[in-house]
Amino acid sequence: MTESKKKELVRMALEARTFAYAPYSGFRVGAALLAKDGRIFTGCNVENAAYGPSNCAERTAVFKAVSEGARDFTAIAVAGGAGEDAPDRYTAPCGVCRQVLMEFCAPERFLVLLGKGDLTWEEYTLAELLPVSFSPQNLQ
Ligand code: THU
Repeated sequence: MTESKKKELVRMALEARTFAYAPYSGFRVGAALLAKDGRIFTGCNVENAAYGPSNCAERTAVFKAVSEGARDFTAIAVAGGAGEDAPDRYTAPCGVCRQVLMEFCAPERFLVLLGKGDLTWEEYTLAELLPVSFSPQNLQ
């Protein structure tokens, strides 16, 4: 995967973050998920007055993608931070989102890019973020 493609994903995650619905936490997150067929699915966090039904940006992107026929993914960029300003710190996916990614992504190859407002990022494989995992393979 090229550096410019990674930067495009980070840029799209930051753009998706502008749509975050986060009136309760004030913490706004965006994600951009690259499918193997080249499509990019974006997502933002969508909170709820009952708190529990809230959805993270990463899962919004995954569920959008799967519901449109994409199941093979290469990478996801995530950008999050409090308030409206562009984030100056990295936000990593929560444990629930890591597990959801594990359902569809090859852990040793799938890249998770943690982006900041200055278009820099840190990158990890999913296996690094969720070692010793439970996956569909356990049920085979
Ligand atoms: N959140 C995400 O959308 N993704 C993450 O990786 C971490 C947390 C959301 C959930 C909630 O709406 C807000 O950030 C504060 O936890």
